[in-house]
Amino acid sequence: MIHVRITRGTWLLPTARGLMRSPSPRGPLSALVMSWLQGGVEPEVSAARDAFELSRAGDVILDEDRQITLWTLYELHYGGFDDVDDRWEWSAACLEVRSWLEDDLEAHLVDATQEWVDSVVGGSDPVPERLFALVEAVESPPLSGYLHRHATRGQMLEFLTHRSIYTLKEADPHSWAIPRISGPAKVALVELQYDEYGAGRPARQHAAMFARTLDACGLDDGYGTYIDAVPAVSLAGNNTMSMFGLHRRLRGATVGHLAAFEATSSLPARRVAMGLRRLGFPDPAAAYFEEHIEADAVHEQLAMRNICGQLVKDYPDILESVALGTAACLYVDNRAARFLLDAWKQGGSALLPIDGLSEVVGA
Ligand SMILES: [Fe+2]
Ligand SMILES: [Fe+2]
Repeated sequence: MIHVRITRGTWLLPTARGLMRSPSPRGPLSALVMSWLQGGVEPEVSAARDAFELSRAGDVILDEDRQITLWTLYELHYGGFDDVDDRWEWSAACLEVRSWLEDDLEAHLVDATQEWVDSVVGGSDPVPERLFALVEAVESPPLSGYLHRHATRGQMLEFLTHRSIYTLKEADPHSWAIPRISGPAKVALVELQYDEYGAGRPARQHAAMFARTLDACGLDDGYGTYIDAVPAVSLAGNNTMSMFGLHRRLRGATVGHLAAFEATSSLPARRVAMGLRRLGFPDPAAAYFEEHIEADAVHEQLAMRNICGQLVKDYPDILESVALGTAACLYVDNRAARFLLDAWKQGGSALLPIDGLSEVVGA
């Protein structure tokens, strides 16, 4: 049996959704914000601004301090933390810090994907075809192919650890769009999300299926257990979804992101499932990925045509936002995939190398 053991002085408690402890800080800004959340310190926005400016140089996607701070502030809108009062969700100081971090992330995404967005906005084919064409045109690092044929058991476990941060709350960020759109696109979004949430069967909820994958692989299936092990590049993908979802003005980007997410899932899911079987993990480990081979082949059509295509038909001005969401999904997911492959190529780990934070035992 293989276990990934996460240690940081004290053993992290197994957690259920909504019962995780707040993450460890990764720099001055996150240290300050965590000190607010954990109580005892009056929020001092000017001190946060100084810390924010200090950490601001460099690539925001790889910035541990900024990404963990943003992820933590967003988590207040999901399950929260068992060591943080729920009332922090609407703290003016937290929202202000969040807005600085969001401005940097959004500006970076807009800048990095401008060419791709222009190719969609300037096209003349039907919108779903333009979005599909973008997904086709953007070359992805061969992460799923590597997991299929070459990854070691330890590397597969690292991949699952990265994925655990989002997938244990799979579909939640896109659900923010439901009250923010209307008409047939809303109906289609609810239909897709209904599937993601198990179509009336709790055991088929995709997040629950992924928890069983983790468990079958000897990993902890508690929500957020591995947050301290997962580097900024993966948190950036999570934060991108939450940023889109939590801003009504970015509702087009939320569904555009969903469309890209679904359209890049089916074939990779097949490869990962085959990789899990090649490595000898037990049957339940692959079930989540096998479910997505067929489900996401359907979902990509629903998301591209019935959600994005319909929404743009009803509200033509939303096209650029939809295109940004699609392009940003491809961009951040490709950054994360490249990060994992590069780390492994150099013989290292793609998890955070701090305080013996993670060690793969028995791989
Ligand atoms: Fe799913
Ligand atoms: Fe899906």
